[in-house]
Amino acid sequence: MSSALAILGGRPLRDRPFPRWPVFDERERAQVLDVLESANWGGFPSPNRKAGELSEKFAAFQSARFAVPTTSGTTALEAALKALGIGPGDEVIVPAITFAATAYAPVACLARPVFADVLADNGCIDPSSVRKLITRRTKAIIPVHYGATLADLDALSKISREHSIPIVEDCAHVPGAQWRERGAGAWGALGCFSFQTTKPMTAGEGGMITTDDPELEQRCQSIINCGRRRPGDTFEGPVLGANYRMTEWQCAVLLAQLARLPEQIEKKSRLAARLRAGLDSVRGLRAVARDPRVTREAIYAFIFIVDEAALGVSRNRFVRALRAEGIPAGVGNEPVYRSALFPRQSAPYRAACEMAGAKTDAPIDCPVAENLFEHAMVAIPHECLLGDEREVDDIVAAAEKVARNAAALKNADLKRQEPSS
Ligand SMILES: Cc1ncc(COP(=O)(O)O)c(C=O)c1O
Repeated sequence: MSSALAILGGRPLRDRPFPRWPVFDERERAQVLDVLESANWGGFPSPNRKAGELSEKFAAFQSARFAVPTTSGTTALEAALKALGIGPGDEVIVPAITFAATAYAPVACLARPVFADVLADNGCIDPSSVRKLITRRTKAIIPVHYGATLADLDALSKISREHSIPIVEDCAHVPGAQWRERGAGAWGALGCFSFQTTKPMTAGEGGMITTDDPELEQRCQSIINCGRRRPGDTFEGPVLGANYRMTEWQCAVLLAQLARLPEQIEKKSRLAARLRAGLDSVRGLRAVARDPRVTREAIYAFIFIVDEAALGVSRNRFVRALRAEGIPAGVGNEPVYRSALFPRQSAPYRAACEMAGAKTDAPIDCPVAENLFEHAMVAIPHECLLGDEREVDDIVAAAEKVARNAAALKNADLKRQEPSS
């Protein structure tokens, strides 16, 4: 084995690709053909044939009474907040570390997103930060189950009960996860899932809302179906909706994906335990631990934490070196309030702040999130855990190799060493 780092001109530790994503087989083919030949392709009448079947199966899988398919995780979050009646003047607490969609959803209701800090050991929303941010305007809390773990649903449920503030779980990363043997998305008033291409269950695009509350289910169905009521719907008041209906194509593919998911979850979880043990044995690295309350572990991104001082080189250099060794490592999500995808100069955000009596440029204090993103977090995509032990062992060996060469990496002039682009 070459000992020189690939980023410094040595041979990469791994030159084979990791398993391809998405995974599909005859099941998806048969499902799509079935829709084609039915000549019933859209989401109308809602819920349509495959949509009804998917709702039923997905709800059962997540231990919820109902599930409502939507066009994306983003529209699932937006519809969930609208079903709760969230609107101008309200505030919604979201974690600092997440994709823009979590913060966009309140703004789509003209409510103000308020950014809570996260926990240093897993990147999920910090319940003590949530407590400090609650005001009389707070109308929902959106924890994100980040990467491969779940936010502390015990602590958050307690806060929710004490303050009568509903939780909307952002489960985009974790279809199939369970907390204390009950599905993610079934703990909050509503749960929201994404089936976008990179997610562990995908139709290219798509989303799902879970809930146990019949009235919220009816409202969600109406919101995603241009405001229509189904016969028998009993909720009161007008609903302004839009077309956020999932197509039958997506539902069909997701039925096949859902059938395969338990076996993938089991495999990824088994390999994640091996990866965790391997990385934990490298000085300066610590994988996010599996919370014993997570009784079924679903993985979108395997997250581990770098201690730059103990490792002897910056997280950024470490990740660049790991990538050069053939490991598709990333650095996770940046604090959403400074993401280019969440412009705080935008008119809707400014309007949402104004209506909540807040300044658009009010200071945001999330030091843990800042440090995680700038110096600590590393993310490995879930498909790396869909191979076998060799794949995982390569990730560990690459991390060990980079760690062993930390001093050389720290002092290298990387710009000169890199191929010109
Ligand atoms: C945490 C989180 N929430 C919501 C979303 C939005 O999902 P979608 O891309 O399906 O709209 C994503 C997508 O990446 C996400 O990572």
